[in-house]
Amino acid sequence: MAIWTGEDGRLFLLHTKDSTYQMYADKHGVLLHTYYGKRIDNESLADLIFQADVGFSGNPVEAAADRTYSLDCLPQELPSSGVGDYRGGCVELVHSDGSIAADFRFSGYQILPYSYKVAGMPSLFDTEDEKGETLVVTMKERASDVTVRLYYGVFEKENIITRAVRVENHGSSQVALTQCLSCCLDFQYGDYEFVTFPGRHAMERSLERNLVGRTKLEVGSIRGTSSHHYNPSVILCTKGATEDEGECYGMCLVYSSNFIASVQKDQRGQTRAMMGIHPSHFSFCLKEGEVFDAPQVILGYSDRGFTKLSQQYHWILKEHMCRGKYKTAKRPVLLNNWEATYFDFNEEKLLKIAGQASKLGIEMLVLDDGWFGKREDDNSGLGDWFVNEKKLGGSLKQLGEKIHDMGMHFGLWFEPEMISEDSDLFREHPDWALRIPGREPNRARNQLVLDMSREDVREYLLERLTDILSNAPIDYVKWDMNRSLCDIYSHEYSGSRNGEVYHRFVLGVYDLLEKFLGRFPDILLEGCSGGGGRFDAAMLYYSPQIWCSDNTDAVNRLSIQYGTSFFYPVSSMGAHVSAVPNHQTGRVTSFKTRGHVALSGSFGYELDLNKVTEEEQEMVKGQLADFHKYYSLTHEGDYYRLLGPGERFCAWEFVDKEKNHALETLVMTSAEGNALPVHTIVKGLDPEKNYICSLNGNVHSGRVWMNGGLTLGSTPGEYESLLIEWNAI
Ligand code: DGJ
Repeated sequence: MAIWTGEDGRLFLLHTKDSTYQMYADKHGVLLHTYYGKRIDNESLADLIFQADVGFSGNPVEAAADRTYSLDCLPQELPSSGVGDYRGGCVELVHSDGSIAADFRFSGYQILPYSYKVAGMPSLFDTEDEKGETLVVTMKERASDVTVRLYYGVFEKENIITRAVRVENHGSSQVALTQCLSCCLDFQYGDYEFVTFPGRHAMERSLERNLVGRTKLEVGSIRGTSSHHYNPSVILCTKGATEDEGECYGMCLVYSSNFIASVQKDQRGQTRAMMGIHPSHFSFCLKEGEVFDAPQVILGYSDRGFTKLSQQYHWILKEHMCRGKYKTAKRPVLLNNWEATYFDFNEEKLLKIAGQASKLGIEMLVLDDGWFGKREDDNSGLGDWFVNEKKLGGSLKQLGEKIHDMGMHFGLWFEPEMISEDSDLFREHPDWALRIPGREPNRARNQLVLDMSREDVREYLLERLTDILSNAPIDYVKWDMNRSLCDIYSHEYSGSRNGEVYHRFVLGVYDLLEKFLGRFPDILLEGCSGGGGRFDAAMLYYSPQIWCSDNTDAVNRLSIQYGTSFFYPVSSMGAHVSAVPNHQTGRVTSFKTRGHVALSGSFGYELDLNKVTEEEQEMVKGQLADFHKYYSLTHEGDYYRLLGPGERFCAWEFVDKEKNHALETLVMTSAEGNALPVHTIVKGLDPEKNYICSLNGNVHSGRVWMNGGLTLGSTPGEYESLLIEWNAI
């Protein structure tokens, strides 16, 4: 059993292979957090809590004369708010009398032999091979009829613990929920760094580390998406942790809308980390009998640095979040016409691009933006999901069949959540767009956002998607989303309930995706939001691959894919070979390097292969051979970051589960005179096996390779790259 209870059902230990999470309901019913770290025995650690009389940290009445008992100092699972814990609570309530207070106390628990689900949202699920366990702790608010259920899930093998929160109003009067964070992690001791992945459009997820002190560190999004700017995945690690050393705690929110992640030391040096829905612009009204479900946080623990933590997330997301045919089926190599043509295409051009691609062995043509409504540029047409047959010179069915006749699959781009003011849909339903009456809405890419909280909007979109997909042979859909939300006002939830709209919007998106996949279960869905603006665990539930960034520059991609790899599997990162000079940066890199970088992702092309040299056309064949040869390594193997961007070169490695085969990719990011040697360590091999290296034919034991490493015989030039294999002999 992964879940153990003691002390008359007041002590709880959640065990994974290498970690233990412990909590204890004390005599006042406060659920104390007593331990999270390396696996320990079934013993209480409540005595680690050091209580003292701390000035200006008050005492609840039940503590009577004990001035050392303060909610402001105790490590807790569900910190109260408004009643004496000044470090910030999880759940904030405004009661019908206007009072603002939430003080939850333990009232019972239940253990379930399976993983819990979060209503209306994705969460980790059980598989045939591995079932999780669930602990549900019930917490009752002291002076009202609000109950909170804390959900804890345990996936033993991967060292994963999950948390989620449900708020229930059992009273007859209405309550406003003004904050509902899913997770609080209190650490009594230790110095930590907060690792986050900030970025911007076309430059997503660079890694940043900050020492946690008494000044609050906080990242988040209020853009209505998880965003390019901060990712809803963060790490707390012991000071100076490396890829292989130090304790690391991952927090990954399964949510695609506004989020917050914060960490701060309190007055006594205890660290509090919190994560959940961003409280800004959030307020949810709970009438009698209504409940609110907050999204799941996936907690990961590694006692051996970032690599182990990442590998655990890769595995859990691939196995217990991704679903459908393409969870296991081999992904086709695609060619997307976006950077090849932008809006300027017709049937002839597309067939020429597809013809050349299929000749070289590419398996799918994806027709991107511009095939519908009046859409010659990005100023109009969104919402009018009717095929522009004039532009295509015939029906989509005909085009799809011609592509299929070439032996290729056919994919299509949509951006369902958006509406152009210059569209028939907007002219017919202006109230379907999110806009505040009496205010001019902010335009982004000259488009507005559909009110996805409305059922009629979702019905329209489902009907349009169904019609298009039922009438043409479509194997893949790219689901794009090209602006941040603002001007939040729903005609459906007008008045005091507009604080619900961001959340209802994303529930609406999930609902549409679920229904869409219910109708077309075998479609390969690729998520996208101007590249990686919605690269989060929740989207992986629907789309096993997500376009990682609109930036296809091989050198910039090193840091984008590096940052993304801390939580998300390589198989989920859409990565394409594009033309040079690169459209986003103007940089010229070799065709080989572009291929090597894209191979560490969901591989594809984003250019017209009629326009590259014959030599490069030949290289495409080699790249495809590499793709097939290394597919099981890149998509199923263990991933190791060897050297990150910002150094002279960047290197990473894949090793198969049997440790017979390893592949390293190395890209030089700068050149210098009188060059110093290029040396990398090799990771993940079996110390007892002998391996031959493809670069120099040398044979050493795994132990020697892993400790001595590899020095290149000569230094590659700037932006040049190498693939190096190790095979067990
Ligand atoms: C943004 C995407 O990231 C691009 O790949 C492309 O699909 C454009 N949108 C089309 O408008």
